[in-house]
Amino acid sequence: MAKSTRFVCAACGSVSSKWSGRCEACGEWNSISEEAPLTAGPGKQALGAGRGRTMPLTDLRTEETPPTRAISGMGELDRVLGGGLVPASAILVGGDPGIGKSTLLLQTASALARKGLKTIYVSGEEASAQVRMRAQRLGLSDAPVLLAAETALRDILTTLETEKPDLAIIDSVQTMWSDTVDSAPGSVSQVRAAAHELTTFAKRRGMSVILVGHVTKEGQIAGPRVVEHMVDTVLYFEGERGHQFRILRAVKNRFGPADEIGVFEMTGAGLAEVSNPSALFLTDRGEPAPGSAVFAGIEGTRPVLVELQALVAPTPHSQPRRTVVGWDSGRLAMILAVLEARCGIPFAGLDVYLNVAGGLRISEPAADLAVAAALLSAREDVALPAETVIFGEISLSGALRPAPQTENRLKEAQKLGFSSAIAPAGEKSGTTGGMALTRPADLAQFVAETFGAG
Ligand code: TYD
Ligand code: MG
Repeated sequence: MAKSTRFVCAACGSVSSKWSGRCEACGEWNSISEEAPLTAGPGKQALGAGRGRTMPLTDLRTEETPPTRAISGMGELDRVLGGGLVPASAILVGGDPGIGKSTLLLQTASALARKGLKTIYVSGEEASAQVRMRAQRLGLSDAPVLLAAETALRDILTTLETEKPDLAIIDSVQTMWSDTVDSAPGSVSQVRAAAHELTTFAKRRGMSVILVGHVTKEGQIAGPRVVEHMVDTVLYFEGERGHQFRILRAVKNRFGPADEIGVFEMTGAGLAEVSNPSALFLTDRGEPAPGSAVFAGIEGTRPVLVELQALVAPTPHSQPRRTVVGWDSGRLAMILAVLEARCGIPFAGLDVYLNVAGGLRISEPAADLAVAAALLSAREDVALPAETVIFGEISLSGALRPAPQTENRLKEAQKLGFSSAIAPAGEKSGTTGGMALTRPADLAQFVAETFGAG
């Protein structure tokens, strides 16, 4: 029987019978590649009644005790996992090459091994000697981690079968190679097969598995999206090049809150935890400078203060530039439009640059007002009042919407020495626990109060 090849989109995993330059399902360009079918077929029966075994059904009443989590002692990591590592869970850690995934996972493996978990670290990218050298540099040589340099999935599974570890770390899933799939390592079908084999094996044997996945330039874990669906938890390890800060972000977690972040700093001796990230993202704040605003944000369950920096200058080009780092460029365009339409402040003919200090990425709409404040401060060349944090969402009408967890944001600001805040909210204007609070009714009022003429 001739094998029918098929074409799979690396972005969304959809299957088609012919190649095309653009995936019809998700619209991604150049993401489709040829692959052999997963189960090549003679002798396979069609699915249908009477051909499988009847599965046992249960109800929802049975009491389940929550799993005992393994605490690594690395607080930033444990929190992102939702309070420690859940037994028999599958975790994917994605990130750019060189961002520090192997370092993070070697530290994780050592921490958990020292807590008594039998841990196997399988490197498909580095020789054992290299991993040992890194361990030496990190002062982890004495941690009871079992090490192997291997890419053959069959041998890895056999070893895991006999060794029965509590945790296996696979660095990386792109280097793994299954002899049941006849395409090259790193191809979509290999990545998917490896992830599938490892996660199902882990579930069956009550072992936890952490898969490392490289991310493509477009920010996707190379290989199909289905890898993300297979695992319980997806963490991204991110950071700006040239910054030593690294952020471990949960984008999916069946055992804890998504959007939680852990902050690390890459040092000469590995990753150090940063338990007070606000201090870090605020940089050295001397005299208040035009274009700088402090946003009191919430990342996951934790308040984080960040400095937003804007630069506004007359453009030499016919089309002014809009450059954003760490914030959504569509959202910036929206705020510029609202400032123009509702407050009569045009940005035509002006280049606009917006930067989130420290290499953090903000996605909260509550940053709107702080962004607007930074833009106006840069445009008017007027520094914002010192020791003031700003937050709140701007709607298209120019109205301001209160941000969730106002209390927590104010508390964090106060803890870091800020004495006042500008934030929308109904009830009262005045002081909240020592913080002077200004509550503008809408954007126009904010502009008038903060910058004089609107
Ligand atoms: P690595 O963990 O190998 O990245 P990944 O597995 O994501 O590709 O980290 C590589 C970078 O980290 C490398 O540029 C050197 C830097 N690094 C340090 O700065 N300090 C350290 O202690 C270690 C181990 C690495
Ligand atoms: Mg690596």
